[in-house]
Amino acid sequence: MALYSEKVMDHFRNPRNVGVIEDANGVGEVGNAKCGDIMKMYLKVEDEVIKDVKFETFGCGSAIASSSMATELIKGKPVSEALTLTNKAVAEALDGLPDYKMHCSVLAEEAIKSALDDYYKRKEAK
Ligand code: FES
Repeated sequence: MALYSEKVMDHFRNPRNVGVIEDANGVGEVGNAKCGDIMKMYLKVEDEVIKDVKFETFGCGSAIASSSMATELIKGKPVSEALTLTNKAVAEALDGLPDYKMHCSVLAEEAIKSALDDYYKRKEAK
């Protein structure tokens, strides 16, 4: 059996939503101290809806696939829904990840939460 699903390989080879949003109103960066991987998420939120999302991931293939899938899962969704996105949902949408690679999907959940946190902080500061 292949170690990684077709979906993981697809999102690793052709990651969706890679890049930077210059006028993002929510940016989050997280890392995993053990493997050294880093993930940065950019959100453009309008009327409480995620109009656009992009990411930059310096990390393993599973982290890239998880970032890509996570952005697909929240794009066009209300922020309230994005807040409930779990790493499990990301891994499931990828048709699974090996156990020892589950932390890569955790990074995607944390990056989105961190960007949403930044969005709320900026909003409050206004
Ligand atoms: Fe650490 Fe994948 S090995 S995020």
